[in-house]
Amino acid sequence: MSSLKFSNGGGNIQNGTKLLAKGKTLLTTTTTTAVETTRVVNPYTHDIVKESADFILNHTQHRPKIGIICGSGLGGLANLLENADKFPYENIPHFPTSTVVGHTGQMVVGELGSVPVICMQGRFHLYEGYAMSKVTMPIRVFKLMGIEVIIVTNAAGGLHPSYKVGDVMFLKDHLNFAGWAGDSALRGPNDERFGPRFPPLNTAYDGKLRLLAKQVANELGMADYVHEGVYAMMGGPSYETVAELRALRMLGADAVGMSTIPEVILARHCGIRCFSFSLITNECITEFDAEEEASHEEVVETASRREADLNRFVSTLIPSIHELHLNDN
Ligand code: HPA
Repeated sequence: MSSLKFSNGGGNIQNGTKLLAKGKTLLTTTTTTAVETTRVVNPYTHDIVKESADFILNHTQHRPKIGIICGSGLGGLANLLENADKFPYENIPHFPTSTVVGHTGQMVVGELGSVPVICMQGRFHLYEGYAMSKVTMPIRVFKLMGIEVIIVTNAAGGLHPSYKVGDVMFLKDHLNFAGWAGDSALRGPNDERFGPRFPPLNTAYDGKLRLLAKQVANELGMADYVHEGVYAMMGGPSYETVAELRALRMLGADAVGMSTIPEVILARHCGIRCFSFSLITNECITEFDAEEEASHEEVVETASRREADLNRFVSTLIPSIHELHLNDN
């Protein structure tokens, strides 16, 4: 006896049904159903994320409402925290581990100017091979720990012609190329406990936090090298071609990097307010016949030269955010 199976294109086979007899051959067809497993599902469920969050809360007395994500070479900020409790990522249940030079890989919870904060010393990138759900999972851990505001830092290449190495750009908006290509941690079934199906992003970079940051930067004498601009995220890990950089500039990008946007989107989804800045670690090369090349060493070296200024800036900004922008004030 032979049988034929009709399939409607890849769904799971659920049952077989006798269709008709043809001579002595019995033909069977298979009804197929598009099943839930064919959708992208964020594996970091509310329960899983809660276990990570509870683990940290159960091992520290601090109750931070401000979280900081340290970009390439900017992880030194975490060393400023007083009375710090440190959680290497491998000790936190369900947490991914960081693979990049310049990214240590631990959560540090402590006080900055007597304000409780949590610092991610080392973040996760798409180019490390992680899915967006993994890259952004710590944001939901922050949320379930009670974080209300995040400061997201990154190293970026400067595209705006006036930007110099060592300048700082406050993000006022972004170009999310991974999202244009259809990759987002919000793809798939939406968990309303975190946020809405269609979160808006026109206010992603909080105007009030940015204004406050500008005031702090002015007070600290940073005005000469602080800008406000649009950040573009590319997947990396290769740096961009000249043609790509020219295209990014035409599209309105002032700086380009390989991070930040996934975390900001997940934060906005769950109602966390965001302030983000880029340290311009290299000038993007937009001439076809130039001899120089972008390099990770230059990125890390520039970051270490600006480290003290940025530490002072963040240490001054945090008490102001705490005073003016947290719910219990
Ligand atoms: N391109 C992308 N990412 C970066 C760069 C760059 O020039 N500099 C630091 N991160």
